[in-house]
Amino acid sequence: MSLTKHAKLNAWIEEIKAMVEPKEVVLCDGSQAQYDKLMAEQVECGMATKLNQDKLPGCYLFRSDASDVARVEGRTFISSVNEEDAGPTNNWRAPAELKEEMKALYKGCMHGRTMYVIPFSMGPVGSDIAKIGVEITDSAYVVLNMMIMTRVGNKVLDVLGEDGEFIPCLHSVGKPLENGEADNGVWPCAPIEKKYITQFPEEKTIWSYGSGYGGNALLGKKCFALRIATTLARNEGWLAEHMLILKITSPEGVVKHVCAAFPSACGKTNLAMLIPTIPGWKVETIGDDIAWMKPGKDGRLYAINPEAGFFGVAPGTNYKTNANAMYSASKNTIFTNVALEADGTVWWEGMDDAPKGELIDWKGNPWTYPENGKSEKGKEAAHPNSRFTAPAANCPAIAPDWEDPNGVPVDAILFGGRRPSTVPLIHQSLNWNHGVFMGSIVGSEVTAAVISDQVGQIRRDPFAMLPFCGYHMGDYFAHWIKMGQANPDKMPKIFFVNWFRKTKEGKWLWPGYGDNSRVLKWICERCDGQGKAVETPIGYMPTVDAIDRPEDVSEEDMKELLSVDVEGWKAELKDVKENHYPKFGAKLPKELSEIIDMIQARLNA
Ligand code: GTP
Ligand code: SPV
Ligand code: MN
Repeated sequence: MSLTKHAKLNAWIEEIKAMVEPKEVVLCDGSQAQYDKLMAEQVECGMATKLNQDKLPGCYLFRSDASDVARVEGRTFISSVNEEDAGPTNNWRAPAELKEEMKALYKGCMHGRTMYVIPFSMGPVGSDIAKIGVEITDSAYVVLNMMIMTRVGNKVLDVLGEDGEFIPCLHSVGKPLENGEADNGVWPCAPIEKKYITQFPEEKTIWSYGSGYGGNALLGKKCFALRIATTLARNEGWLAEHMLILKITSPEGVVKHVCAAFPSACGKTNLAMLIPTIPGWKVETIGDDIAWMKPGKDGRLYAINPEAGFFGVAPGTNYKTNANAMYSASKNTIFTNVALEADGTVWWEGMDDAPKGELIDWKGNPWTYPENGKSEKGKEAAHPNSRFTAPAANCPAIAPDWEDPNGVPVDAILFGGRRPSTVPLIHQSLNWNHGVFMGSIVGSEVTAAVISDQVGQIRRDPFAMLPFCGYHMGDYFAHWIKMGQANPDKMPKIFFVNWFRKTKEGKWLWPGYGDNSRVLKWICERCDGQGKAVETPIGYMPTVDAIDRPEDVSEEDMKELLSVDVEGWKAELKDVKENHYPKFGAKLPKELSEIIDMIQARLNA
């Protein structure tokens, strides 16, 4: 009997089934009963730990293989017909050849396993802006996470009908179970050289093999909502971005919507859920990782959050820095690679209090809190990229209109990253193209969100999209320039922020978190043509008295945070001109070359 009413979907399911040879096929209907059954099975077979249900109702802990803890950019491919279309920032492989290679791995890869079929919607089910995918996976962990992160099940099949369009997403952990073999309590995966996270942009298809981790395996997220969606957005005239979306209301009741692109583990979830330290201001969350922005009939950009949950970084999250995230992850949440307390609750580095006693670390071993309270690098209780998967509806600050299918009008766009020096706390672009320039030169310290030997080093991460742009980054810059041309007066204002400036001694210059509301306030004022500002060589900047200074920041530090490091910027732009921009060759928009010349001239004047 056919699984669905959709002939093309049925045919694809049959084709994959014949290739991967599972022991059974299960269609995900999206029901709570199915979620509960699947979770109970995972607890039963030792893959999940049921947490203290009084303190953390509906919460469970999963552990990965020690090698499968983050995205694998080195094994992520854009497999377009022409290499030129993947551009200089993506790994490219020819589709025909890569498919043969991957098919050989997929052959029989689900032996002894269940093949789950997950129909999912990115965006509210049935909304004009939403897009549908179907993920086939042999990982129950993936199914459970997809049920939180996206809208899943029969309601999606109803919208798909008999011939609706869907993005086929194929995933396997890449470890068949032969002869009654079982998993050993951590989710299985393939060795690094056999992992593949492949996007086929022309076919609008995703093939992922060998990893069970977040962005590698929850294919609606980075693979679909960014890599495939960027190519759709370019053709259809919109933007798919690695951005949070927040709504901010002033004491006078003036509402603004802000989108912000920061690289992985650089503060999107935290800014999206911020609790302002300035009285009378309110921030509400719409999304914490991905924004799809489309021009509305009035010429403004409207943003939706295509996701339904948060896949948030655990370490550093606590009731002081991000209470809304703590509340979000207090029920019906899946924890991944965090540490386990004896009382069945969870712990990670940077939590409010020291652990209550001996812990079980993310690798499943006993772990004692060091006397100085500082976990040794590489010996943390929770993996630095450990995560919580929580329903967005859990967030106390979720905006009432977060699921509005029309999206929210965007007033300001922020770019930022982890920059210990040079880049000031905030500066504003002189115009749209200058804002695109700002996005194009984003640089940041590489974080634990990616498996890399460059963690801690600064790399260019344009628009925080380096690992997520599905086509030539030079064409992507040009698309951004073009998006500003139709209605230049109606485009959001563009800003660059840096919460991560450090003193020579390595201390944070800016307290960050809730105090970032002080910067947001100035941004809101600027959107209304107010806010005291000076024009500097690099853009508009607040006067030192234009931003309410937190008590624990000295006036001297504030001056440093808001000054232009002329020599630093000269070196920065030299690096962009000599090392970064040349990568894009003839595809670098001339508008960006013009901006860099202009800023250089202003710095030399
Ligand atoms: P992805 O989910 O990987 O895309 O990350 P993200 O951009 O949502 O980052 P997130 O908000 O989870 O923050 C990552 C880390 O940065 C956490 O450990 C935070 O505690 C820390 N962080 C966030 N905001 C600030 C800030 O304003 N100042 C400082 N010093 N640290 C921050
Ligand atoms: C990121 O790395 O930017 C994340 C986590 O948000 S992942 O889902 O793995 O992409
Ligand atoms: Mn992210």
